Amino acid sequence: MSSVDLSTTLGNAWFPAPIFTASGCASSGRELSQFFELHSIGGVVTKSVMSKARHGRPTPRMAETPSGMLNSIGLQGPGIDAFLEKDIPFLLEKKARIIVSIAGETVEEYSTLARKLRGVSGISAIEVNISCPNVENRGLVFACDPEASRRVIDGVRRTIGGELPIIAKLSPDVTDLVHIAKGVVEAGADALALINTVLGMVINVETMRPQLANKTGGLSGPAIRPIAVRAIYQVHAALPKVPILGMGGVASGRDAFEMIIAGASGVSVGTASFGNPNAIPVIQNELRDLLAAKGFSSLREAIGYAHRIEVSDGE
Ligand code: SIN
Repeated sequence: MSSVDLSTTLGNAWFPAPIFTASGCASSGRELSQFFELHSIGGVVTKSVMSKARHGRPTPRMAETPSGMLNSIGLQGPGIDAFLEKDIPFLLEKKARIIVSIAGETVEEYSTLARKLRGVSGISAIEVNISCPNVENRGLVFACDPEASRRVIDGVRRTIGGELPIIAKLSPDVTDLVHIAKGVVEAGADALALINTVLGMVINVETMRPQLANKTGGLSGPAIRPIAVRAIYQVHAALPKVPILGMGGVASGRDAFEMIIAGASGVSVGTASFGNPNAIPVIQNELRDLLAAKGFSSLREAIGYAHRIEVSDGE
């Protein structure tokens, strides 16, 4: 095995390895823990949890697409109290590093969730998933509205104080992602998760009806990787000091390396784990070997490397 220092940081949270689960694709890691040690990867980013238990949207709520997957789960989950009672102890027992993802329908719900996390030991960071409809404003998705995005992050920051790093998870479905990113960083985000799924739709040509009960859903998988790489590259260029947890269609160490040199400090893997539950450790090992083959002695040296290469016109 090649000796490359894979450690990384997101805000003031330190991780010995750079590959994480992607929120929503592995719940709290119970199923994946049958296949590999959860403490051997960077950490588990749990499914976005809300205040109350939710059944999610009606089925069908997943559809395969070429090079991707469309989902509209509707944030199914146990609610924060049951999550804290059952999932956190499980992850602590497995010695996993934990990033808790939270989601809300109102600015106040996010703050309430942050309040519940205050003082819970063993959590490395909070991911604030703002890709949810704002019930107070005509269902407009928080992450698509610069002002609403800022208010959510500001509320969480005020509630949690300096206790935990905040990672704001942004949607690529906006015209100016850098503008949204700057706003949430000014409001108190220490790091950014880029990108959430891309809004898409599949129509079943046999039934001539939308495939998902919710009609539209979030597209993930290799189809969206170039969008994620573009988003990471643009945001890192504008905010080079802000760590990015990159995600979107990563299926190999090469894909993870592409996100690292675009500017990501860590990479989450989601859809690939559905096809291969060992995808995360495999990708982490491939990334280590690729870093060594490219002459890097640490992951940190490679972060944002693509920005340092001058490409002259006409080449
Ligand atoms: C869902 O549960 O519908 C997915 C939520 C998300 O993409 O953030």
